[in-house]
Amino acid sequence: MKPVESLTEAEAVEELTRLADEITAHDIRYYQQDQPSVSDAEYDALKQRNAAIEARFPHLIRENSPSLRVGAARSEQFAPVEHGVPMLSLDNAFSDEDALEFDARVKRFLRLDEEVYYTAEPKIDGLSCSIRYEKGRLVQAATRGDGRVGEDVTANVRTIKEIPTKLEGEGWPDVIEVRGEVYLGHAEFAALNEAAAAAGQKTYANPRNAAAGSLRQIDPKITARRPLRFFAYAWGYVSAPFAETQWEALQKLKAWGFQITPQSRCVKGAEGLLAAYAAMEAERPKLGFDIDGVVYKVDRLDWQQRLGFVSRAPRWGVARKFPAQQARTVIEAIDIQVGRTGALTPVARLRPVTVGGVVVTNATLHNADEIARLDVRVGDTIVLQRAGDVIPQILRVILEERPKDAVPYEFPHVCPCPLKTDIVRETTASGAETVVRRCSGEFACPFQRINHLLHFVSRRAFDIEGLGEKQLTAFFERGWIRAPADIFRLHEKRDELLAMERMGETSVGNLLANIEARRTIGLDRFIYGLGIRHIGETTATIMARGYGSAAHFLEAMDKVAARDPEAIEELDAMDQIGDAVIEAAAAFFGEDHNRAMVQDLFAELTVLDAEKPKTDTAVAGKTVVFTGALERMTRDEAKAQAERLGAKVSGSVSRKTDIVVAGPGAGSKLKTAAELGIQVLTEDEWLEMVGSQEPTPP
Ligand code: IVH
Repeated sequence: MKPVESLTEAEAVEELTRLADEITAHDIRYYQQDQPSVSDAEYDALKQRNAAIEARFPHLIRENSPSLRVGAARSEQFAPVEHGVPMLSLDNAFSDEDALEFDARVKRFLRLDEEVYYTAEPKIDGLSCSIRYEKGRLVQAATRGDGRVGEDVTANVRTIKEIPTKLEGEGWPDVIEVRGEVYLGHAEFAALNEAAAAAGQKTYANPRNAAAGSLRQIDPKITARRPLRFFAYAWGYVSAPFAETQWEALQKLKAWGFQITPQSRCVKGAEGLLAAYAAMEAERPKLGFDIDGVVYKVDRLDWQQRLGFVSRAPRWGVARKFPAQQARTVIEAIDIQVGRTGALTPVARLRPVTVGGVVVTNATLHNADEIARLDVRVGDTIVLQRAGDVIPQILRVILEERPKDAVPYEFPHVCPCPLKTDIVRETTASGAETVVRRCSGEFACPFQRINHLLHFVSRRAFDIEGLGEKQLTAFFERGWIRAPADIFRLHEKRDELLAMERMGETSVGNLLANIEARRTIGLDRFIYGLGIRHIGETTATIMARGYGSAAHFLEAMDKVAARDPEAIEELDAMDQIGDAVIEAAAAFFGEDHNRAMVQDLFAELTVLDAEKPKTDTAVAGKTVVFTGALERMTRDEAKAQAERLGAKVSGSVSRKTDIVVAGPGAGSKLKTAAELGIQVLTEDEWLEMVGSQEPTPP
């Protein structure tokens, strides 16, 4: 694996695309199916590599970047519950340096010279849960879900003995969402798996999955039989503040009847952070339940509030992860997978190996260069690394154990797809070769087309339920669905569908109804569904808003493909859209068959005009510039607050600027603002303008 510093831009683009797909697939297996296929450390490393590449190439941050979301969508089996305050995630730290940097960042942000007190709490490896109490009574419990909306698991949570249905003691707020981790101890996990194995049922890979699987049972009677446990460590919405520090809050939660982790402590400064980590690592084997790290939190809640959140994680806390062990195993085969865009990814099929409790059977080898660099051969014994700042797949080959007859791996010249096309090496816009190899079959390649169709029907695109990989492949092979428009003509095959095995009146009826329901679609989903490289969900939404209607979008795309300067400028002027998107759009609409495919599809649909951007705060959609000294908040806080309220913060004043907030010492920016006639506010005026708009702090 190449160090991030030496990646070219083209390589970064390719890797970010691959990482987004890979992480999404893992998210679905982990959050929806409770069945991860990689270890947590491998997953973390993927996310970290993604973050490191994004840090180096911020303009390449993908709209669907895994760094911008928490978890995955909830399962449809449970009713949705909107959290009073979103359930977000923590950023990870992996080393002493990361922990020191966290402390330094906190002090910098708050402009402090004194040492900061933190809580250091074990990071319980279970699943987080938010439990709402009203007047001391448990009224609702929800899983995290996508962070905003979780799954209603109230009936199941009521069966967990360690979760009080009525709060003890006194002093609890009228309404409080208590948050913590549902988990299973080692002994309970072993007993559960033993019983399952004896009954011939499926066993769980690790206690976390067992806890998730046990909590997310449709029948609460099954949950009741599982010895689930719970540690409280946080809260969401509260009707009134109830503590001044995290430590005090933990003690109150305990007094109200919750278990809190006895290993938690309150520590001082960077030194305290490091010592707490070392102590927790030593205690880890004796705990009797899984922890995967230590959570550091700024103790003072007023400071936590000032620090706030950036993107999906708080600035006031971080999860310091334990390094995971390495494992050895044997490469049994190297297969080539064909992606939606035809990119070929070699995948090592491994002799199953347990790393940190999860059985790992596959590891991506990324590309031919990576295989050559490692000189991985079928039959080799390799080391899987599960921590650090690189993707911990295959670290190295143990040469001493190489079988005598092992031959160097030769990347195939022919694609594994049924067309058996030549494999071509991808080039950048300037003609340089990249590490990526592609199937040259393009539109004719059935693998690419099936993957493309799968993207089209996926949840975030056209969201057609009942049309999964199995059905699509079957319909593709019969020639009924070859392109997206065919989906909307599937009703013509009703009799043939009914003649298929396991397709009764009901399932055919449901499938056709689901398809009909999507014949009317938003412009954003329409654009996203086309599966154009670099045009993910957010970009599609931006384009939809920018063009307003499908007619305008299609007309503009034809012009972009014809390199019309005005059309390119119009697209370029849209927020966050750069060359990669323009090139991808031009390439896509430059192909006759793509244009025909889109027109054919468009003729089947009613595409709704795009929604106007949200305007429910006083500053939403406005571009704000802060200049001069701010006295009531730091610049970072001001920026974070403005962005929270939907404004865009810019560093320089231009005609696009709506508001300049000027403090003492403001210079040229204030002058420019005056020249351009832009509204200038003092810090106090700004705070007054946004004050009532601030979300209630947790
Ligand atoms: S505090 C803003 N404290 O780790 C999120 N989380 O990546 C605040 N977790 O979703 C979370 N032990 O599932 C917190 N002592 C602890 C924790 C903990 C485990 C989990 C939790 C959370 C994830 C954060």
